[in-house]
Amino acid sequence: MTENEKLKKWISEIAELCKPDNIHLCDGSEEEYNAMAQLLLDNGTFIKLNEKLRPNSYYAKSDPSDVARVEDRTFICSKIKEDAGPTNNWMDPGEMRKIMLGLYDGCMKGRTMYVIPFSMGPLGSKISHIGVEITDSPYVVMNMKIMTRMGKSVLEQLGSNGTFVECLHSVGYPLENGKKDVPWPCNPTKYIVHFPEEKIIWSYGSGYGGNALLGKKCFALRIASLMGREERWFADHMLIVGITNPEGEKKYFAAAFPSACGKTNLAMLTPSLPGWKVECVGDDIAWMKFGDDGFLYAVNPEAGFFGVAPGTSMKTNSNAMLSVTKNSIFTNVALTDDGDVWWEGMTDEKPAHLINWKGRDWTPDSKEPAAHPNARFTAHASQCPVIDPDWENPKGVPISGILFGGRRASVIPLVHEAFTWQHGVFLGSIVSSETTAAATGAVGQVRRDPFAMLPFCGYNMADYFLHWIHLGMRADSSKLPQIFYVNWFRKDEQGNFIWPGYSENIRVLKWIFDRTNGKDNFVDTAIGREPKLDEFDSDGLGLSEEVLHQLFKVEKETGIKEVESIREYYKQFGDRIPKELYDELNQLAERINQL
Ligand code: GTP
Ligand code: SPV
Ligand code: MN
Repeated sequence: MTENEKLKKWISEIAELCKPDNIHLCDGSEEEYNAMAQLLLDNGTFIKLNEKLRPNSYYAKSDPSDVARVEDRTFICSKIKEDAGPTNNWMDPGEMRKIMLGLYDGCMKGRTMYVIPFSMGPLGSKISHIGVEITDSPYVVMNMKIMTRMGKSVLEQLGSNGTFVECLHSVGYPLENGKKDVPWPCNPTKYIVHFPEEKIIWSYGSGYGGNALLGKKCFALRIASLMGREERWFADHMLIVGITNPEGEKKYFAAAFPSACGKTNLAMLTPSLPGWKVECVGDDIAWMKFGDDGFLYAVNPEAGFFGVAPGTSMKTNSNAMLSVTKNSIFTNVALTDDGDVWWEGMTDEKPAHLINWKGRDWTPDSKEPAAHPNARFTAHASQCPVIDPDWENPKGVPISGILFGGRRASVIPLVHEAFTWQHGVFLGSIVSSETTAAATGAVGQVRRDPFAMLPFCGYNMADYFLHWIHLGMRADSSKLPQIFYVNWFRKDEQGNFIWPGYSENIRVLKWIFDRTNGKDNFVDTAIGREPKLDEFDSDGLGLSEEVLHQLFKVEKETGIKEVESIREYYKQFGDRIPKELYDELNQLAERINQL
């Protein structure tokens, strides 16, 4: 079993509570992965995809009620409510414990309890942290094998007295008295709970994505954001990308966009401009620490991609398509007649017949979608053709620029740069975006999603803003990354995107890259630095003057409304909002009033 006393004790406690039939300590081997796959095939959870078309790959469709993160069921149970802040759901930790212990009691009856030791970050790196997830889902075990470093080597690293973050997960579907299993067991009652003081994660009722793969959002963001505050580093919802210019100079950038707003796409972008190269370090999460040299370094704590399938194609993101040609798991996409997968946007021509994610016949005339909008692929990062040579470097990669962004049909221009770090933190604090299918709830509504961390911050968001300001103040300002804000999603009155996006985003990155070299390619506007129009490379795009103007325009009327809405937004945090951010807001208001 294991030498680790804390782990031994925890396993027996949880086994006593959840009452599984068996306990399996995961070794992370191929044999184990294949055995789990066989279990899932036998249970009807998985269909094996055509070995010739998609080797060693599996297809799962979830219960239609369990398709995305459940933000309204996600809780930060700090001792004091204000420590969770107004943007998190909160319950008294004692009360929550009682509820959860009731739910967990006997919840694994008739099942096997899997114990998954995993490392977020390269094994043995000073930046990495170990977790152990206990789950009753073999689907989770397989996904964790792809998404993290897991198994025997992690147990060895843990040794007899190493510590780890406890992550308990159950689908909440016990098999008592001969009850038969279903292909996607889950429970209508769902809880995704974090105890910040103890740094413990308890999840119940869902088998899907960030609700169930607890290393990802629960640990690497919510719990890690708490660790980062204590230890002076950042855990953020950011991709990490390496960009090389035609002269051969390479820089790394991190970018925070809300869920389903383009991180995976930007992380693996195929540049449309000749001579530019883009390489991927990570597509969802960055852990960033200041090095002894004073620069900020980032690692990707994950080892795989859990990416949005719909909209992914050889045209939009060929590197993602090439990452999932084999050894992959697909969830809630559609199944083709020859045993392969398909989703909206994958090909121009739609297949004549499919089985959709609900298991029903589908033709191009069907009213319902073939794939769920939050359908996802799981694939190991090493399969990405443009994975960065330093993606597992335990030191991390130095960050030259940080980008914020979101989906906004109007108001927010294609790109602008913050005047200073503090102004950049202000820009991060006001990130706004239309909601997407990555979380259950209405899609397309504009909401503030500060730092793209609204669903992922483990403590009071206002304190998180202060953390960003403080770390900036402590740093050597000449070594801090410059901060930018981008918006690929501006639309015309007919509702069409006016910016081509995807590969063409390299044009924005080019301007940003040059800015981090101090190039005088900008003009100061009321909201920040924007490209001088003749310094922005739009050659060959065929965009009219009018569209270009629309992409960059800043208007007094909408600006005043935006300022009012930010003021309203800040109010909920009371006097916990750092004074520096009110200074920035007041200065913005003044600049806009002068337009
Ligand atoms: P999470 O994994 O949920 O955190 O999402 P993400 O931020 O990685 O988003 P992803 O790159 O998967 O993109 C989500 C959706 O946005 C996909 O359907 C993409 O096709 C679409 N998208 C990405 N980049 C662009 C762009 O530049 N322009 C437009 N119009 N759509 C884009
Ligand atoms: C997101 O929603 O931002 C994701 C998917 O990356 S999940 O892992 O389900 O959180
Ligand atoms: Mn994400």
